Amino acid sequence: MAHAQHPTPVTARASGPLSGRVRVPGDKSISHRAMIFGLLAIGETKVTGLLEGEDVLRTADAARALGAIVHHDGPGAWRVQGVGVGGLREPAGLLDFGNAGTGSRLMMGVCGAHPITTTFDGDASLRKRPMRRILDPLELMGATILSQEEGGRVPLTIRGPKEALPITYRTPVASAQIKSAVLLAGLAAPGETTVIETEATRDHTEKMLAHFGAEVRVTPEGAHGRRIVLKGQPELQAAPIVVPADPSSAAFPLVAALIVPGSDILIESVMTNPLRSGLLTTLREMGADITVESEANEGGETVATLRVRAGALKGVEVPPERAPSMIDEYPVLAVAASFATGTTRMQGLQELRVKESDRLAAVEAGLKAAGVTCRIEGDDLVVEGGNGTVAGGGTAATHLDHRIAMSFLVMGLATQKPMQVDDGAMIATSFPTFIGLMNGLGAEIA
Ligand code: S3P
Repeated sequence: MAHAQHPTPVTARASGPLSGRVRVPGDKSISHRAMIFGLLAIGETKVTGLLEGEDVLRTADAARALGAIVHHDGPGAWRVQGVGVGGLREPAGLLDFGNAGTGSRLMMGVCGAHPITTTFDGDASLRKRPMRRILDPLELMGATILSQEEGGRVPLTIRGPKEALPITYRTPVASAQIKSAVLLAGLAAPGETTVIETEATRDHTEKMLAHFGAEVRVTPEGAHGRRIVLKGQPELQAAPIVVPADPSSAAFPLVAALIVPGSDILIESVMTNPLRSGLLTTLREMGADITVESEANEGGETVATLRVRAGALKGVEVPPERAPSMIDEYPVLAVAASFATGTTRMQGLQELRVKESDRLAAVEAGLKAAGVTCRIEGDDLVVEGGNGTVAGGGTAATHLDHRIAMSFLVMGLATQKPMQVDDGAMIATSFPTFIGLMNGLGAEIA
């Protein structure tokens, strides 16, 4: 229950133009997976650019508890000596994942397919999040849920089968976490495990499976979906991982530079995987001035250095099928929309209700505290833009949610009166250098 008792209020006030060049920390999704694949591989996996946020450090601790030897060599540089698929050790105590949905759900997939008993727990936010979506396929694969909180919540205990059964599983909601949990479980099963998703979600797990030597086939499924077929029980071979900069973290300086008048910044080497780029697409539709200065390849992903300049934005309709490619970016998009001219309608946001907080409710409440006119209509969020002007002067309740905290601090850099967030402590889960990096660009956050 880290942080719950010691909230740290943080305030952002109107800043002069932002300028400078920054690189945001490593991608959170890839960093969790680096630890997990390191654990499951034979040999030593060298990782560079790892996000050293609290969430990923929890996954590193869990990898250690399951038998990996994890070394920290220097900033972002880690080595993981794995145990191989099938070689997990039963942990001596419970695995506490803190705030981390990704770490806990992916590790449930790993542990739930091995013949060990594992207890998962986390903070007050994680204890509210639905885990049935992971437990259901694991039960089909032979796992037994020995205990769970109501509705399949942590703390919960899973006992894996002697040998997992391969399954064909259609994910009930667009979720890379569900897909990844099933594929990671499928590593321990003989034969082929298949995951079908109606909407394609981030593909880091599939890419890493191939990178570590597993046989994995990905084919299109329907208009927007994919079918992923994994051949089970491979011997994963350790492979180096270069973690590119996290587009979900880059979103914060990016939107800040768009809304603070006169800003002109460079954000270096941001991962532009198309399954993570919905925010860029949307902001460009809104008229944002974002140009690519240079492109390169890092660790099998395209990265781009982005130049971002402030300017007028216009309201847009964001279609529901775009949600998986920008699922974590809606809070900060809502901030951008508050400064736009006209109405922005973001459609199909039901999954936001089960993130680190109920992000639909938290965004609506925060926007209202800043004097923005907005409403939730079914699963849509509708924001009336203030044509460059937002009053501010309120406090956003963050509900242990890092992205709610960072979104409203970005907002406060351009509101008439300062914006406060009730607790900035959770920012350390994904972007521990956020305040220093933003202030280095000229922001006033304290
Ligand atoms: C993630 C998948 C997404 C995202 C989360 C990271 C991942 O969650 O919100 O921050 O690394 O697979 P869902 O799969 O629940 O949509």
